Amino acid sequence: MAQINPSILSADFARLAEEAKAVRGADWLHVDVMDNHFVPNLTLGIPVVESLSRATGTPLDCHLMIESPDRWAPQYVEAGAGSVTFHAEAAAAPVRLAREIRAKGARASMALKPATPVEPYEDLLPELDMLLVMTVEPGFGGQAFLDIMLPKIRRTRELINKHGLELWLQVDGGVSESTIERCAEAGADVFVAGSAVYGAEDPVQAVRTLREQADR
Ligand code: DX5
Ligand code: ZN
Repeated sequence: MAQINPSILSADFARLAEEAKAVRGADWLHVDVMDNHFVPNLTLGIPVVESLSRATGTPLDCHLMIESPDRWAPQYVEAGAGSVTFHAEAAAAPVRLAREIRAKGARASMALKPATPVEPYEDLLPELDMLLVMTVEPGFGGQAFLDIMLPKIRRTRELINKHGLELWLQVDGGVSESTIERCAEAGADVFVAGSAVYGAEDPVQAVRTLREQADR
C-alpha cells in the first residue's frame, strides 16, 4: 500500500504540534530541514525536531536539504527522526553516512535533485532504506510537479527490482491529486505532499484521497 507523508513545510509553524496531529492516518510526517546554503531557504533544525517527536505519535521523516549532512544527519536520529534523508549532492561519504544512520536505529535515505542521475548510485542502493527522487528543485513548497522526472522514477524502480531490494521509492514536490497516479504508475511507493494536504480544507480526507489514487 502507498505511504502518504504530509510535509509540515506547508503547515502553520506557530501551531506545529496541532498541525502534526491534524494529519491522522498519515504514515510519516515529512520534516523539511533547510540551511539557506544547500537550498535558498531556511526552515527549522534539531530543537524543533526534538519537540515534534515528543508531540506526535507519527514517525518523523526528516529531509535534510543542508550542507555537511555527514556531520548533522546522525544528530537528527538522536533528535527522534525515524528516517533521515540526506542529499547525494551534499554528502562527502554517503555509504559511511547511511551505515551510521542505520546503526543509530533510523532508516537511511538518500535524495537526488532533478539534475542528479540515479545510475552512478546503483551500487549504493543496498545501503539505503529509501531513495528520494525530487520532483521539483528543492527549497520551496507549492511548486509545479516536474513531469520530466517520470522516466527517472521508472529507471529507479527498474534498478530496485533488478537487485531485488526492499528499498522504498519516495517522490517529493508537486505531488497532488492530479500527479500522484503518474508517480505511482512509474513505480513510486512513498509520496510526500505539502500543499496538497495542508492546503486542503480537510487534511485527513486529503491524505485518504491521495492514498486511494496511488493505490488505484
Ligand atoms: C521542497 C520540499 C518538499 C515540499 C513539498 O523542497 O522538499 O517536501 O514541502 O511541497 P509541495 O507538496 O507543496 O510541493
Ligand atoms: Zn521534502
